[in-house]
Amino acid sequence: MVGRTIVVTGASDGIGAAAARSFRTAGEHVVVVGRSPAKTQAVAEEIGADFLLADFAELAQVRRLADELRERYDRIDVLANNAGGIFGARTTTQDGHEQTFQVNYLAPYFLTTLLLDRLIASEATVINTSSAASRLFSKLDITDLDAERSYRATKAYGNAKLAQVLFTRELQRRHGADGISAAAFHPGVIATNFSNSPDGAMRLMYGTALGRRLMTTPVEGADTLFWLAETQPGIDWTPGEYYAKRAVARSGRQASDQALARELWDRSAEMLSGH
Ligand SMILES: NC(=O)c1ccc[n+]([C@@H]2O[C@H](COP(=O)([O-])OP(=O)(O)OC[C@H]3O[C@@H](n4cnc5c(N)ncnc54)[C@H](OP(=O)(O)O)[C@@H]3O)[C@@H](O)[C@H]2O)c1
Repeated sequence: MVGRTIVVTGASDGIGAAAARSFRTAGEHVVVVGRSPAKTQAVAEEIGADFLLADFAELAQVRRLADELRERYDRIDVLANNAGGIFGARTTTQDGHEQTFQVNYLAPYFLTTLLLDRLIASEATVINTSSAASRLFSKLDITDLDAERSYRATKAYGNAKLAQVLFTRELQRRHGADGISAAAFHPGVIATNFSNSPDGAMRLMYGTALGRRLMTTPVEGADTLFWLAETQPGIDWTPGEYYAKRAVARSGRQASDQALARELWDRSAEMLSGH
């Protein structure tokens, strides 16, 4: 499959940049989406791709990104919602949402739903970069999505990545028959800029030379994303599932809760009304 339009968010660095490089090498038309103008432009120029900018901590920028994508591309064959990260102390965005929740989940949900008709018309694959944290660190309280009552950086990250898995399942349930194929995946434990700042919630693992020696490369982290995008949904993989290492992976109890997935979708739509 070559020459399709593949949009990768968080493509200025790490796993997203590695995926963008692999897609270009495979002959795809790649749109590199990033937050930092200089980093995003550098990746795009290196591989000969288009680029667009948006900070997911500001929902107005996500709406602008969706408008720009719609204007420029008649088809979007693959949307890779990959931007994300783990943060330290609880912070709210100017939209009033807890930062981890917004950047990892709410903003990509918004982007996807704003593009939905274009994605359906393209019979697109939507791939969400989740994490094993969705199973290991999550305990999602649907009445406290912004973690106002209870916040820990790792739990907020686990919950946001769980929300991505629930979103993947619900997107498939609602729009699979319209031609959408959705998947979530865990990239592995990868040496990137993820959580390697001095205040990073997992800095002892990601921010030290010893920790990083135990990790694998961004190229390996991008492998399952590349595989999901380059193979046939419904034949090579089952839409609506959560993957790791090119195979369906174990997700937690809450990740299979259909009622929770529906409620999360509805609450997310409510949170975004007016944006
Ligand atoms: N590394 C791991 O072990 C691991 C494990 C499981 C899941 N993941 C997930 O994999 C994805 C990619 O992470 P990575 O490991 O490649 O880390 P990374 O090197 O830090 O890359 C993260 C990407 O997300 C972008 N991003 C961060 N905050 C953003 C915001 N507010 N608005 C828009 N873009 C933003 C970054 O942009 P800048 O370049 O501007 O920072 C960068 O392009 C994330 O969703 C992460 O949660 C990583």
